[in-house]
Amino acid sequence: MVKRTPVLRAPGTAGPAPRSRTRRALVLGASAVLALTGVTGLSSPASAASSLDEAAAAKGRYFGTAVAANRLSEGDYVSTLNNEFNSATAENEMKWDAIQGSRGSFNFAAGDRVVNHARNQGMQVRGHTLVWHSQLPGWVGNLGAGELRSEMRNHINRVMGHYRGKIAAWDVVNEAFQDGSSGARRNSPFQSKLGNGYIEEAFRMAREADPNTKLCYNDYNTDGINAKSNAVYAMVRDFKARGVPIDCVGFQSHFNSASPVPGDYQANLQRFADLGVEVQITELDIEGSGSSQATSYANVVKACLAVSRCTGITVWGVTDKYSWRSGGTPLLFDGNYNKKPAYHSVLSALGGSGGDDGGGGGGGACTVSYSKAEEWGDRFNGRVTVRAGSSAISGWRTTVTVTSPQKISATWNGTPSWDGSGNVMTMRGGQLAAGASTTFGFTVMTNGNTSPPSIGTCTTS
Ligand code: G3I
Repeated sequence: MVKRTPVLRAPGTAGPAPRSRTRRALVLGASAVLALTGVTGLSSPASAASSLDEAAAAKGRYFGTAVAANRLSEGDYVSTLNNEFNSATAENEMKWDAIQGSRGSFNFAAGDRVVNHARNQGMQVRGHTLVWHSQLPGWVGNLGAGELRSEMRNHINRVMGHYRGKIAAWDVVNEAFQDGSSGARRNSPFQSKLGNGYIEEAFRMAREADPNTKLCYNDYNTDGINAKSNAVYAMVRDFKARGVPIDCVGFQSHFNSASPVPGDYQANLQRFADLGVEVQITELDIEGSGSSQATSYANVVKACLAVSRCTGITVWGVTDKYSWRSGGTPLLFDGNYNKKPAYHSVLSALGGSGGDDGGGGGGGACTVSYSKAEEWGDRFNGRVTVRAGSSAISGWRTTVTVTSPQKISATWNGTPSWDGSGNVMTMRGGQLAAGASTTFGFTVMTNGNTSPPSIGTCTTS
């Protein structure tokens, strides 16, 4: 099937031609795709999108990821990137130290690799980042105020000029506020030498350098309503009141158990949007696994969809194995590029359904249905029937997620593997003729919790 995915671009930004991508044939019919969570008989609409980017596009949003140039030689990385995302942010390649490590010597090679790959695939690109205290080469910190100001202008001009027409939105200034209750500015060479006005100066310079791209302020721990987000809010309100050019605010959204998705996340996005700026979720990752991680991801997506000026979501990496927080398995694909429960919850929250596995083989969708079988005082058996759609399939897999302290103690009729938490079992099986089915089973030790397992979507391989 040839697929065209609409890509949102900044007004006036010359973008690449719409992307055409060949995917494995996937027939989406009411009977061909079922995403079941512990119940039988639910079907998905025939027109539901089967990838993150298509589902997001159907909602008028983009769905992006951070991209590392040095991973673009890895086949699974590239196929997952190409199949699922329509926006790319260079994870490190456009930072000051990467582009101008030595004063006056600009190196765009790695950034260009990301931008060229993205544009060849019809993806939009977010620019990250121009003015940031981190990944800033030492020579910048040694400048006096006058030289620092002119070097800041020069850097903005050269970098934005190089990528002019290719970037939908730039993170002009990144992480300029301190954590904590003060709402104060973070110390940095820019802050200490140029004073409070440096952010405004940077935005004005950026608008001059490229009037046709969106200019964003980007930060973390600003996802809920708190002292830090209040300080950013006051700055944006002031900028809008005085005509300082700013188009968007990025909410990084790095979450874990110490910093979960805040309950007022949507309200916070909305109050910024009400200032007249776009809001974007720019670096989303959520540590965890299984259903709790999936629920948190879905909540983030729902919050963005509920705010009309929330124009897109970027997750901070393709696969857990290359995440900056890889130990926390915070992304949508595991280290083997399997779709995690969080992937399916995001797709579902975006209104999509089903989805192939991103690989090249197979042919034809499959469905799953769950039923509870035997039950004892301390355990129960579950059965999942896997059925091929209108075409034969060469293999299938699905996930069974139990809720801690439940444990799966036995399985039959399939090949299981486990995620790090032990709560998510991926079950794989072999070929099935068109319309044929097979059933696998498992025993859940309840350990006091009798809730049914969550069954992931069936994907072919
Ligand atoms: O490429 C070198 C490699 O040659 C060397 O052997 C290795 C040894 O440490 O370092 C490698 O560079 C690392 C680079 O990531 C690429 O992997 C740097 O040390 C490491 O500091 C750098 O970390 C990046 C971090 O920003 C730096 O602040 C992460 O990849 C990147 O995900 C992270 O992204 C930031 C956003 O830009 C801003 N918001 C927070 C977010 C997470 O920290």
